Amino acid sequence: MNNNIHRLEKEKLINQKGVAIWFTGLSGSGKTTIGVALEKELYTRGLLTQLLDGDIIREGINRNLGFSDEDRKENIRRIAEVTKLFVNCGVVTMCCFVSPTEEIRNVAKTIIGEKDFIEVFVNTSLEICEQRDVKGLYAKARRGEIKDFTGIGAPYEIPLHPFIEIKTNEMNVDECVKMIIEKIISRIK
Ligand code: ADX
Repeated sequence: MNNNIHRLEKEKLINQKGVAIWFTGLSGSGKTTIGVALEKELYTRGLLTQLLDGDIIREGINRNLGFSDEDRKENIRRIAEVTKLFVNCGVVTMCCFVSPTEEIRNVAKTIIGEKDFIEVFVNTSLEICEQRDVKGLYAKARRGEIKDFTGIGAPYEIPLHPFIEIKTNEMNVDECVKMIIEKIISRIK
């Protein structure tokens, strides 16, 4: 017996349930854009959230990691452990990471726990991501300056059974947010 305050008590305190919304997709597919818009909408509904995103995490706690298979796995392992802490506090946690393989996504799912893990596949074609090339990284990868860039020199495995698939060519950001909320709200409230 210990006197710790448990998850259910924390969830009761903030009147919501913790869950991880795990966005996977190519670089530039729109994971963070959708995650940020979703966070805003949940905030206006009085829900407590936290967004974790690859570019920011890789400047902070994961600054010592690169993009080899092993480093990507360690990247996701640490992120999943952090996510679990938030979820155990009842926070709706949005994770926006390329997480390019089934194996890596399974690492996240196993650590977070299947019942708290909602996989959202942001399905934007390589062609479109490359056309946008917001950070100029696809051009660099094509020039051979980034060898292991996801979609060019490194694989992206399409998720087999995502809970939600977002075809960004068919929906705008607001529509994506609406669809996600409809599908997950019962898991949060
Ligand atoms: S993951 O593969 O380990 O899940 P993560 O989501 O953390 O990747 O980081 C991806 C972001 O890092 C991309 O959006 C891009 O800005 C940047 N990046 C830099 N090099 C690479 C690379 N080789 N492959 C993919 N993304 C890269």
